[in-house]
Order: sequence, then structure tokens, then C-alpha cells
Amino acid sequence: MQTACTKDELRTLLAPVRGKRIVLVPTMGALHEGHATLLRQARALAGAEGCVVASVFLNPVQFDNAGDLATYPQTPEADLQTCLACGVDVVFMPTPDIMYCPDRSITLEETHLSTVLCGAKRPGHFAGVCLVVNKLFNLVQPTDAIFGKKDYQQLAILRRMVRDLDIPITLHGAEIVRGEDGLALSSRNVRLTPEHRAAAPGIRRALLAAAEAYGAGADIVSVCADVQAALSAIPGVVVDYVELVDAENLHAVTDERRLALLAVAAFFGEVRLIDNIELSRNV
Ligand code: PAF
Repeated sequence: MQTACTKDELRTLLAPVRGKRIVLVPTMGALHEGHATLLRQARALAGAEGCVVASVFLNPVQFDNAGDLATYPQTPEADLQTCLACGVDVVFMPTPDIMYCPDRSITLEETHLSTVLCGAKRPGHFAGVCLVVNKLFNLVQPTDAIFGKKDYQQLAILRRMVRDLDIPITLHGAEIVRGEDGLALSSRNVRLTPEHRAAAPGIRRALLAAAEAYGAGADIVSVCADVQAALSAIPGVVVDYVELVDAENLHAVTDERRLALLAVAAFFGEVRLIDNIELSRNV
């Protein structure tokens, strides 16, 4: 495994593999088993001949909350060990001053899918994601990139970016990785208090109950109300949103035969957790 910290180092490391399959897994570090799963999928996709690139970059541009950025866990040494164990070929670990010119003046904004769910709560977040992912795509020039479905909205927006900008990269969505108690793995979980950590799997239970109710024909308003009530009953939790939307365009469901998405965000103290589940009617 080789590590690049600058754009020139990255170009040099990737020069010999141009023309082969290059699979990129962008991350912000603090890697956990969810990331490791993406990295192993990337290895399988790239095969023995291809190249797996992981980026580890805590992107300041996508944080709408300075406190969240300042407390975001950073574990670079452990991240390198995880990448090595998962068969990564090249790790790109730039600093913000390497990634961004101080007078950068180009923005990249998706204007439809970004207006709802987390986008409505975190102004500028998805523009920052689109900007950094676009830069990573230009720098690495991968054939494929893998993103987790825990950030379902992010994946939908990046699919839209690739489609609308004719970016010749195939995106793959990976299923959410959960702990045995059902909590979706997240770098932010380490910041939960023991009480909140013990209560957080309640999110998954609420989503599963909702999936069953929706499948059996419950209406959208009552499904959302039940999830809202279940989450609000967890001590110390402040619900940010509970929404049931069309899984592709993330706006109101207009055709219940299509796949739907139930997405939630909730604050456990200072820590904001998100989760989601795909839903369909059993008809
Ligand atoms: O999902 C993440 O970790 C980040 O949003 C990403 C895609 C690495 C961009 O910084």
C-alpha cells in the first residue's frame, strides 16, 4: 500500500494503473467496519489487476456546524491500518490547504434533491460534498466509486451529479452496516454518551416497525407520526426530522408502487445521527 499526501504524489502513484479499473472509496477518516466493508467491496470490484484508492480527508467545506467539525474524530494511524487490512493500494490523505486554494471561488450546487431532508437542515452541506467528490473524481479519475446507503441522500445527489455532468464513473451504493443491536455504524457513534449509545438502537426498531406498517398499507402520515413518537420517547432525544419520500427523487411520494424511503435524523445530546430504510407496499 502506498500513501499520497499531495496531488502530484497521487498522480505519480496512479500513472502506472491508468487504463485499468480504478475503484475509489472517499471517506472522511475515523474508519469503522462500515468503511471497511466498502473497502473490501472495492477490492473485490477492482480484482487483482485493478487498483483500489481510498481518500481520507475531513472536508471542512461540507460542515455547516463548526462544533461538529472540531469534534469530528480523527484517527489517521488506525485508518491506514484499516486500509492495509482491506487491500487498499493507494491512500490519498491531503490536508485542507492541499485540497483547496485560499481564494477558491467555484461552487457546485445540486438544486432539487438537496433542498429536502438533511439538505434542508444543513445549508451548504451537499454543495460541499459535491465539490470535494468532484475534485476527488478529477484527481483520481476512477472508473468506479462506492458510497454507503446510510448517507442515502448523498448517494442520490452524487448520482444526479454524475448524470447531469456526464462524469464517466459508475457509482455503487453499499448497504448500511449495523452493529448487532441494529445501530447503523457511524464515525459519530463514539461521541455518544453510554446512555445515548444504549438508547440509539431504538432508531432501528422504529424504522423496522414502520416498514412493516407501510408494507401492510398504513398511510404515510401515520407511519411518520409513529416513528416520531417512538424516537421522541427515547430519553434526551430531539428529533430533527422524520420523512417518508420517494426513494429516487427524495420528494413527496406520488406513486406508492415505487420504492419509498423513510429517513430520520435525531440529536442524541450534541450528536446528530441519521438512518433510513427503503420501503415498499406489499401489494
Ligand atoms: O460520506 C462521507 O464520508 C463524505 O461526505 C464524503 C463522501 C467522503 C465526502 O467528504
